[in-house]
Amino acid sequence: MNRTLHKALVTGGAGFIGSHLVEKLVDQGCEVTVLDNLSSGHMANLASVADRVAFVKGDIKDDRTLNKVSKGCQAIFHQAAVVSVTQTVKEPLSSALVNDLGTIKVLDAARRNGVPRVVIASSSAVYGDAPQLPKTESMNPAPLSPYAVQKLTNEYYADLYCRLYGLETVCLRYFNVYGPRQDPSSPYSGVISIFMLRAANGVAPMIYGDGRQTRDFVFVEDVVQANLLAAATPAAAGRVFNVGTSNSVEINQLWQMIAAMAGCTMTPLYDQPREGDIVHSLASIQRAKEILGFQPSISFEEGLRRTFQWYRQSGQQRSE
Ligand code: NAD
Ligand code: UD1
Repeated sequence: MNRTLHKALVTGGAGFIGSHLVEKLVDQGCEVTVLDNLSSGHMANLASVADRVAFVKGDIKDDRTLNKVSKGCQAIFHQAAVVSVTQTVKEPLSSALVNDLGTIKVLDAARRNGVPRVVIASSSAVYGDAPQLPKTESMNPAPLSPYAVQKLTNEYYADLYCRLYGLETVCLRYFNVYGPRQDPSSPYSGVISIFMLRAANGVAPMIYGDGRQTRDFVFVEDVVQANLLAAATPAAAGRVFNVGTSNSVEINQLWQMIAAMAGCTMTPLYDQPREGDIVHSLASIQRAKEILGFQPSISFEEGLRRTFQWYRQSGQQRSE
């Protein structure tokens, strides 16, 4: 038994993942409010739905705004966060105000306003560098950054709000998400966005370490699918789910695939591995398959092709 959403709030809806989620919700006829302070998101990400969403420029730390925008919603999709791990290391306090306190405020606004369900964006970062593969939700978390501690704290609060107040919370541990609109502008942006920009500009990429490290890259549309299932599946309440593909790709191979698409012949440059870089990351998505009915639908080749097309068409190549 699944539920149809008529009204929803997306925090961080002007960001990379949030904007894809907003588009899908709008397509399905849902009335969507976006709450975003545009600290890392952009109005341009919402261009295709600009006249069909209620956009509120505001901060998740502001109770009054949260109260207003959550009234009457059947679900809140909480994507807003300080997403840069490096920034949380530099600013543990101010990032905690957004990622910890802000999330509690979102949960509490839902509780006060009778919103039945909140879906929270968590991260594979909560697993830290534990060597067991694939990562299963029952493994002990080992957070290694303020960001990871903050995401884990979100999960604990979500669990508490479910147990104490009956708020249906679902936490999704995204693995390495990629796709159109991912911002490539910082050295700590997702590797696919950086490599796409390099390929489009004809600049050799930098590979940290020997490039044999692997990641479980999940296309943004599949992350949207996981969010919609998390909102609609009664048995998901109070649970945590990995969102990945259960396939991994080597960083060397990733560059070769992107270079082939772009018709590039440059050889990558190599540097020391990044401090704290984990070697392999791979999700078990058994739980998401069984309980949510989640099944990634975009192959890596197809996802890369769509992403490359977007970088080529969007003029992103000018921004490096
Ligand atoms: P993003 O930076 O594109 O989106 C985050 C959005 O939140 C932005 O639009 C930003 O302006 C907004 N925001 C930040 N602070 C805010 C505040 N205080 N009040 C209101 N809005 C605020 O990043 P993204 O990649 O789309 O990430 C979305 C979510 O997914 C985040 O919670 C992130 O931690 C999580 N996540 C992302 C990945 C990934 O690979 N991209 C992996 C794991 C988890
Ligand atoms: C990702 C998340 C991070 C999270 C972690 C948890 C992103 C952007 N980051 O980090 O928030 O804490 O998962 O597992 O999604 N690389 C290069 N050259 C580059 C850029 C990266 O070789 O120019 C390498 C990195 O060293 C790394 C791999 O590519 O080995 C992936 O890097 P990145 O996309 O930054 O993601 P993670 O490090 O996995």
